[in-house]
Amino acid sequence: MIELKTRDIERLVRAASEARDQAYAPHSHFYVGAALWMGGDEIVTGCNIENASYSLTICAERVAASTAVASGHRSFAAIAVASVGGVSPCGACRQFLSEFGDLHVITADVLTGARQVRRLSHLLPDAFDATNLPVT
Ligand code: THU
Repeated sequence: MIELKTRDIERLVRAASEARDQAYAPHSHFYVGAALWMGGDEIVTGCNIENASYSLTICAERVAASTAVASGHRSFAAIAVASVGGVSPCGACRQFLSEFGDLHVITADVLTGARQVRRLSHLLPDAFDATNLPVT
């Protein structure tokens, strides 16, 4: 597991806050940005994208993770999530992210600047994973 330094946290939170500016949330008006770090120079971002058919909405975290995978990444070191209140990823996003490692999860409140850093395994203990599947 890659060590997370203060400057990494700052860089990720800034990227997540900037990604939040692109959020498409005309239904909830709750805007979220996410920034994924693979451990090197590159950061991949995402924002929430809502739909009039509410259940098709996709969270910022899964947009960022999907974009990263489509760019060839398979292992994530950390994700920052920026929102009002500094919310943590929903259950679906926790499970989705867990496929790609026990990453650091930074949650940041864009109003107060408050942040928390936790591991995904803390947010999603005993996750369902490939070890639960029969070997073929
Ligand atoms: N949302 C995210 O993008 N990430 C989270 O961690 C929590 C919720 C979005 C989904 C929806 O567009 C809006 O926030 C309200 O639920």
